[in-house]
Amino acid sequence: MAHFKQDFLWGSSISGGQCEGGFSTRSETVVDMIPQGRGRGRYLNDPEDYIHEQDIFYPSRDGVEFYEHYQEDIALYAQMGFKALRFSVLWSRIFPKGDEDETPNEAGLAFYDHVIDELLKYGIEPIITTIHFDMPLWVVKRYNGFYNRKVVSLYQRYVETIVQRYHDRVKYWISFCEINGMNHALYMVGGTLVPEGKDREEVLHQCIFHKLLANAILVKTCHDIDASLKVGCEIAATPVYPLTSSPEDYMAMIQERRKDSRYADVMVKGSFPYYFLDELKQYHTVMLSEDMKMIQENTLDFIAPSYYRTSVVSSTGVKNNPQLKETAFGWTVDPQGIRSMLNELYERYEKPIMIVENGLGTPDEVVDGKIHDDYRIDYLRQHIEQIDLAIQDGVDLIGYLTWAAMDVVSTSEGMLSKRYGFIYIDRQDDGTGTMKRLKKDSFYWYQKVIKTHGEDLSD
Ligand code: BG6
Repeated sequence: MAHFKQDFLWGSSISGGQCEGGFSTRSETVVDMIPQGRGRGRYLNDPEDYIHEQDIFYPSRDGVEFYEHYQEDIALYAQMGFKALRFSVLWSRIFPKGDEDETPNEAGLAFYDHVIDELLKYGIEPIITTIHFDMPLWVVKRYNGFYNRKVVSLYQRYVETIVQRYHDRVKYWISFCEINGMNHALYMVGGTLVPEGKDREEVLHQCIFHKLLANAILVKTCHDIDASLKVGCEIAATPVYPLTSSPEDYMAMIQERRKDSRYADVMVKGSFPYYFLDELKQYHTVMLSEDMKMIQENTLDFIAPSYYRTSVVSSTGVKNNPQLKETAFGWTVDPQGIRSMLNELYERYEKPIMIVENGLGTPDEVVDGKIHDDYRIDYLRQHIEQIDLAIQDGVDLIGYLTWAAMDVVSTSEGMLSKRYGFIYIDRQDDGTGTMKRLKKDSFYWYQKVIKTHGEDLSD
């Protein structure tokens, strides 16, 4: 017998910067300026020159045309029986010119009205992420992102606008996608380029502080408008194990884990762990007392981890766990890790948890119009089995959203061939393809899983 609650939020996630397109009806976002390719990781941290060059393919500009296909796509999600869909609003659609816009762009606001209403028509709970690696480019060019305190005020204006507009229909809000991704992707997640002559850690710590403040502002905005709204922030939960049983590796694990847990500790508890406060002081972070108060008084209602893989750490650094298999893109596969991760988060914070991303990114082959993705079914099944065990352990889990509802532009490589969806989209790495949507075998499998509340995980 499976142990998922009757009102459990089964569904998936997508993001505006990876699926929407509609480039001519909004301004550019940070991911629109990152070209495709396996070496793209370094651009996520520092794109060097983010002014676009015409001859390079920037996959996020078209995404998979959700902007044009949203009704068809949502109808497919409804066929699978989704109870929830997480998507991001593009700030660059609401304030395309930033502080030069005297009023928000009504057409942009109306687009998300339509998306929300379409979801509600099928009884699908809309869950909004306010920024999912898709910050407007003007925030970077004009202000250098969250390094600048002014961007917190601009973010406040943006979220007050969207919460006011959608709160009557959207109960769950997620401030940021994988806030801790800023550790290695400062440009994409923080919207910040390290100014010449500045120390990266110093800049990073100021960005972290401002993003934690912005998170608290979203919490306050939501709760002031309607105390029943629920706010979370997505944390990339990538647990590290010690490589060996040596005390040195155990300490290395503690230090490595802190790089991620420092974010959630503040957002959930409202206070700074001692070591983190020391770091902030060491890096001369400007922390106004009214900002500290805001952070202290406005904490998260739920935790929203993404989970894909685990790694190991030793004194020589972090690497893949040699005991685990890897995907075609070199990500370890560790279903048991999701159970321990959930237990650890629940033990630490005692707040409800919604898994907001989990999935397998790998190429698919279309044979006679069909996609037999049994490997994806296997991956998801093994993780759902472990999630069920975590619920039996006592973890308060309110939802499971896979990554992704349909194929989208991948973040790490910008490739379309790294496919995560239940719905195949005919869009290829070179930008060709009809954008036609096809149901994979996993589409029918997830439909059955949802229908049976996680009871029937068989093929
Ligand atoms: C998460 C992101 O990091 O993982 C998504 O929130 C991303 O945006 C997903 O697409 C999978 O990663 P990737 O790099 O394979 O697309």
